[in-house]
Amino acid sequence: MGDLAASPPLDVIHISEDLTPLPELKPAGNTDITFDGQLSRPLRLREDLRTGCGGQTWPAGMVLGKHMLRYHRHELQDARILELGAGGGLVGLAVALGCGVESRLMLTDQNEMLELMKHNIALNEVGSKATASILNWQVHARRQAQETPLPVGEPLPQEVLDYKPNVILAGECVYFEPAFPLLMRTLQDLVALNPDAIIYFCFKKRRRADMQFVKMARKAFTVSEIFDDDRPIFSRQSLFLFTFTAKASKAAAAAAGRDSQTRKESRTEEPSPVVVAAPAL
Ligand SMILES: C[S@@+](CC[C@H](N)C(=O)[O-])C[C@H]1O[C@@H](n2cnc3c(N)ncnc32)[C@H](O)[C@@H]1O
Repeated sequence: MGDLAASPPLDVIHISEDLTPLPELKPAGNTDITFDGQLSRPLRLREDLRTGCGGQTWPAGMVLGKHMLRYHRHELQDARILELGAGGGLVGLAVALGCGVESRLMLTDQNEMLELMKHNIALNEVGSKATASILNWQVHARRQAQETPLPVGEPLPQEVLDYKPNVILAGECVYFEPAFPLLMRTLQDLVALNPDAIIYFCFKKRRRADMQFVKMARKAFTVSEIFDDDRPIFSRQSLFLFTFTAKASKAAAAAAGRDSQTRKESRTEEPSPVVVAAPAL
């Protein structure tokens, strides 16, 4: 744990009333991840907590990455994909490696995670398929010098406005209650930018308050619990997997159709070993 000695305090560690344990902290290093065999060439991820909690893989990111590889491998070639709160890029890089994307997907996070995202893009040699940028859900504004800074929503960066993503990935972005309205605002801005966008959203419930986020989402979007063969297993681990789409949008209808198609196809699939484990730590 020597590398972790210099780590800044992690906000998530202060969530004392967790219902389920946080991933064990581990020293910086590389991890190979296949998402239970979904990737023949493993994703190699540098994990390093010194820049923040996104520096290691989280269970919801593992579930979402596997879901995308398992059920959306052949339909994302032309998608304009953006990952929010990407951390080291777990979900987005899985998609870049396994889903045959043609246009460069955007990994986004706070400034502190930028170098790690870039590092992992290079490590996996997917520079032609992925970029890393800053998309902060918040800025701290103070109206007067003596005021305590208040978090307020930050507008979407110009490059995101230009890119107009139509697939948004968000793994394990619900863990810090003060950020809920800011994350929600960012999601709403993204859907306003492209009403046909579909948000794949997975999180692990650690506190009762986390479900408030789902309540907020139901007010703003059509929220669907999408099909996944692993659902019985990850549900037992308090993991939730949804899509959010604009109410009454084409994306909502397409997602509903795709989901029922996925159910039909999955019946003909070989039963696969289903292990949705917490990330290898
Ligand atoms: C728990 S980590 C999840 C990392 C990765 N998606 C995964 O599943 O392994 C949450 C991520 O959200 C990012 N995050 C938190 N607050 C943010 C904000 N205001 N703006 C942008 N990203 C934020 C953190 O930096 C962190 O990388």
